[in-house]
Parts: sequence; C-alpha cells; structure tokens
Amino acid sequence: MKQTPETVVLLNFVCDDIQKFARMIRDKNIYTMVMPYTVPNERVMAEKPVGLIVCADAGAPAHEAELARFKTLNIPLMELEITKENLADQAEKAIDFCMNTCGCTGSWKMETFIEEAVADIRAQVGNEKVVLGLSGGVDSSVVAALIHKAIGKQLTCVFVNHGLLRKNEPELVQEIFARNFDMNLCYVDASDRFLDKLKGVSDPEQKRKIIGKEFIEVFADAAGKINAPFLGQGTIYPDILESIPLDGNPAGVIKSHHNVGGLPEDMKFKLVEPVERLFKDEVRKVGRLLGLPSEMIDRHPFPGPSLGVRHLGAIERDTLKILREADAIVTEELLASGWYHKTWQTFAIFVPVKTVGMKNHKRTYDYVIAIRSINSVDAVTAQVVRLPWELLDKMADRIIAEVDGVNRVVYDITPKPPGTIEWE
Ligand code: XMP
Repeated sequence: MKQTPETVVLLNFVCDDIQKFARMIRDKNIYTMVMPYTVPNERVMAEKPVGLIVCADAGAPAHEAELARFKTLNIPLMELEITKENLADQAEKAIDFCMNTCGCTGSWKMETFIEEAVADIRAQVGNEKVVLGLSGGVDSSVVAALIHKAIGKQLTCVFVNHGLLRKNEPELVQEIFARNFDMNLCYVDASDRFLDKLKGVSDPEQKRKIIGKEFIEVFADAAGKINAPFLGQGTIYPDILESIPLDGNPAGVIKSHHNVGGLPEDMKFKLVEPVERLFKDEVRKVGRLLGLPSEMIDRHPFPGPSLGVRHLGAIERDTLKILREADAIVTEELLASGWYHKTWQTFAIFVPVKTVGMKNHKRTYDYVIAIRSINSVDAVTAQVVRLPWELLDKMADRIIAEVDGVNRVVYDITPKPPGTIEWE
C-alpha cells in the first residue's frame, strides 16, 4: 500500500534488534522499512527511499562485497553496528542522519496514516464488499474500525463464538462494534458444535487441530454467504518481517504468507491488509484515534484457541465454566489493582486434578486453579512477575469462595524458557 514518501530503508545485515531499532526511529515520526540484505535493488527503489541504513550486529560488520551494490544506488547510506547496549545511541545517530542528511521532516504520523489508509482501501475495494474475521483481539479490531471508516456498510465482520471465549466476551465485542460503531456484524454462536467436537479429547495438539479446523469451516460458511470478493486481515509488520528469511528469496515467502491459511481452495479472496506496515504499538495508536476503547486496545495477547489451551485435559462444559469464572476474577482483580497494564499476560489455568481441602468445616475434594503472570517483550522469552502477595491472596480467596468446584489455587513461578507461556 502507498505510504508517506519519506521512507528510510534499514538493510538487515543480520541484526538481532532490527525491529526494535526500526520502531525507535519511527517514534520520531520517520517511516522506516526493514529489508533483508538479499533484497533486490529494484525492490528497494520501489519504495523511493531517501536514505539507507545498514544494520549489523556488533563484531559482524556488513561485507563490502554485499554492500557495494547498494552504494551504486546514489542514496545517502549509513553503516551501523548495533548491540543491545548501544541501541539508543545508535538510534540517535540514525535519526540525526535521517533528518540532516536525508532531509526527512518527521511527518510520519498516525493521523496521516489513517487518511492515506482510508483512501487506499476505497481505491482498492471500490463498491465491492469486504468480509473480516473479528476475533476481539487488537489487530483484527483495529482493522475492522479502519476498513469501516473507509467503506462503512460494505464491510461485514464475522465474529465466531467457539464456546471457549472469556466471560462476557461475545457481549463486549457486539457492544463495541455493532452498537457503538453501527457495523455490520455477523455473530455466529457455534459453541455447541465446538464443544461437542472437543468432547473427551485431551491431547493438546489434537484440541488445537479441532479448534482450528472447525473455526475455518464455520468462518468459511458465514463468509461464503456474504459473497464478498475481499477479505480483511489484521496482518501486522512483524508477521511479515518474521516470514522473510535473511537468505533466500523474500518475494517467494511474501507470496506464501498471502495465501489465506486453511480456507477452502475455491474461496479465493483478494486481501485487504491496511496495517501490514505497522508495528503493534502503532496499531494501538491507530485504534485509539479511531475511537476504540482501552478495554479493546490495551488488552493482553490472547491465544487463538482461547480458553481451550488453558483448560488442561478434556474440556467439559462444567469445568470450562470453572475456568471462565476464575479467569474473570483474576482479570477483575488485576484491573482493580492497577497491575493489568504492568504485565504482558496474566491468566488462570484449569488443572484437572482434585485435591483435598476444607470448606465450612467440611472436607472437600475439588479442582486446582493455577495463576500465571509474565512479562515479555516479544513472547519469545518471558519472566515471571512477582505480583504482590496481597493481590494473589485476594484472587485466591475470591476464586475459592466464588467458584464452585475449586478448593486450591497455586502460582506458576516458571520462566520461559524452560516453560512456555501457555500450559498447552
Ligand atoms: P507460548 O505458550 O508458546 O506462547 O510461550 C507465546 C505467545 O503466543 C500465544 N499463543 C498463541 N497465540 N494461537 C495464538 O494466536 C495459538 O495457538 C497460541 N499459542 C500460544 C501465547 O498466549 C503467548 O502470548
């Protein structure tokens, strides 16, 4: 999609922190794109860059031979070696280079992005219809609001309730989109279908497969009825960057990324991906500017299979209810204490193990709920958050008092690695 003309290309000559670096420069309203060092010159020139910055990890500078062809482009070029420690200093140098050598004016703003994206969507879609799978997550929600701003009722969002959503999630999504935004929203309650298929299945991979397969079928069925040639998607820049290998043919990978995963062969959509050049924090900014509430924009990441991977073992309706209630209490207390926004993810896990306890002077034999709270920058590694003891106490007290079937709450103190963030 067309973007602001003042583009600076960061050439990735193997630099671990290049995404972070690109974001730091973007923070000064300078639009950066990341390309692998194998990128063809024509691809670089297609973006009409005003500057090139060669980024390499310290101690492993870019080879002259590989650099030579970029130097023939007659665009200001700077070479930087980057470490975790010097990231901020090097960003200052890069910003100075962009402003003083490349002539950037610092005009890359989300307000302008929205105007351009709206014009691009209108030009791409014309009078046709667009269908979009709304998950309630940040990316699909922002894309829904953006496409809706561009084409209004030509957009229909499909929101599938697979029965594994958090408490009040279907109401919240409908409230925000159908009521506040007056958006065409097709709500499909397929809870029974999913829960019936999942009955008795305890293997984590098998559960994920069932959820994924059913989801595609339900979505394809609903989307098919809308008869739209376009599919909106919440692809963001890291999705694209992470699918491009440093060596090899980037064009090929971008293409495979564009094949919509899992949809039936005969459903050929043209894609509308208006935030594919934005980092997550920029997507959030766009969402705020479009009027989405904080409870939608600033939420924790949530896995596609939802409570399905936080309910260990076979999922039953009554035990799923236990998890849903416990999860709601954890979130409520986290929000009330101000800790929600200080953690990356915090959630409850249902452990299908019964232990002995006492309640109202009577022996109980009930299930275990685990609480997990982590901080992370990219979900690749994660540190356990030391939530205040008083907060954990309150969560545990409430879960045991309010959720029938639970008599024990434990806290997960495993970092990633070796643990994964989710338990399944
Ligand atoms: P793990 O458990 O692998 O999780 O440490 C890393 C991050 O990814 C999220 N996650 C998922 N997200 N579909 C998703 O969309 C999934 O199947 C899935 N599994 C894990 C997880 O919540 C964490 O943020």
